[in-house]
Amino acid sequence: MKDLTPDRKELDPIEIASRDEIEALQFHRMKRSLKHAYENSPFYRKRFIEHDVHPEELKSLADIAKFPFTEKQHLRDTYPFGMFAVPQTKLVRIHGSSGTTGKPTVVGYTASDIDNWANLIARSIRAAGGRQGDILHNAYGYGLFTGGIGAHYGAERLGCTVVPISGGMTERQVTLIHDFKPRIIMVTPSYMLSILDEFRRQGYDPRESSLEIGIFGAEPWTNAMRLEIEDAFDMHAVDIYGLSEVMGPGVAQECVETKDGLHIWEDHFYPEIIDPMTGEVLPDGQFGELVFTTLTKEGLPMVRYRTRDLTRLLPGTARSMRRIEKIAARSDDMIILRGVNVFPTQIEEQILKCTGLAPHFQIELTRTGRMDNMTVHVECDPAHGAAEARAASARELAHHIKSVIGVSTRIEVHDPLGVVRSEGKARRVVDNRPKA
Ligand code: DLL
Repeated sequence: MKDLTPDRKELDPIEIASRDEIEALQFHRMKRSLKHAYENSPFYRKRFIEHDVHPEELKSLADIAKFPFTEKQHLRDTYPFGMFAVPQTKLVRIHGSSGTTGKPTVVGYTASDIDNWANLIARSIRAAGGRQGDILHNAYGYGLFTGGIGAHYGAERLGCTVVPISGGMTERQVTLIHDFKPRIIMVTPSYMLSILDEFRRQGYDPRESSLEIGIFGAEPWTNAMRLEIEDAFDMHAVDIYGLSEVMGPGVAQECVETKDGLHIWEDHFYPEIIDPMTGEVLPDGQFGELVFTTLTKEGLPMVRYRTRDLTRLLPGTARSMRRIEKIAARSDDMIILRGVNVFPTQIEEQILKCTGLAPHFQIELTRTGRMDNMTVHVECDPAHGAAEARAASARELAHHIKSVIGVSTRIEVHDPLGVVRSEGKARRVVDNRPKA
């Protein structure tokens, strides 16, 4: 793989500014943003008054801890437009996330929000090694989901030639990669694995493809998966993070030269890590729930938004801005099995250790009597499909899971294509336990 370390002259000056400069900018913007929320969003005004706090009380960045949290439920309660801080006529775009409860959570952007977003995606693609003139295959879904259109505007902003293919139609994805020869692909890591299978099915060697950079996000994935994809395609695989409530993709991005976690674009988002049980702010380095306050958003400012994503804050490396460690999981995805906390990413790591297995998996939870059971549905690698090989792979995986994570699991090794495939975010856990 080529060394893609950027020339520092290409970076936005704030990416490599001193911590003092970054914090001064954050403080200035945070004050302005809290005032804007208080004055223009009836939701925030009411929340601040209920919590007996006023934007004037922000005397330092740490004072943000005096302000109340915002949660996804608040967006649901005020559906569709109740949290916005500008009149609807000032919004140029609406996005939403489908969620599991039917109604989407709705987010809105002013022209200035879209402009900032495009710049941050452009910065993210550049951090991943992308440049003006690159062909970029964008397989994030287009529509209400922020992935497709969000990435699209930023790629254009950087000056890339965008192929707006969206998710799905895997056969055509491979044909177009083969014909158009993109240098960059943006897609969920789970869907990239489906694209990999399709490459092989069509008889193309993925290592011979034009792809040099994959910008993967929208779902948790492991460093083991990074190595798997990098090796299969002979490409760099870097992580992009974001969430619609805070903006969309491009809140944080991993740099290709270090691949050591994701730099939060701190000139636009102020991060905190809290104890998810008590809400207490934790020092950098400690593991907990990620919380964001937006610093420049006009349409939907977010004050201390609880992401439910679990990670820790680390100092800057390739950039001055702080990093988050690769997101281990959402707290919502944590499985508590007979008292042991299990994350789907831990299962992914163990699967990738087994040569007889392909990294397509889904976890099923069932209950017999009072006992919860976990079954890992996983596919065999096509070269290890014989009954004996499968049984050995199942034993090997069960052993790894037991010795590393500490739980006993049932393993079902399916045929290739036997586990449901994602064309976007993978659904890792299916809970078939009777509802209480
Ligand atoms: O998934 C935005 C996005 C699109 C990010 C494309 C990256 C690429 P939502 O649909 O609102 O927005 O889902 C946000 O997805 O809170 C995390 O739980 C998860 N997530 C997003 N990126 C990552 C990542 C988009 N790199 C939720 N690693 C977030 C782990 C991620 N989880």
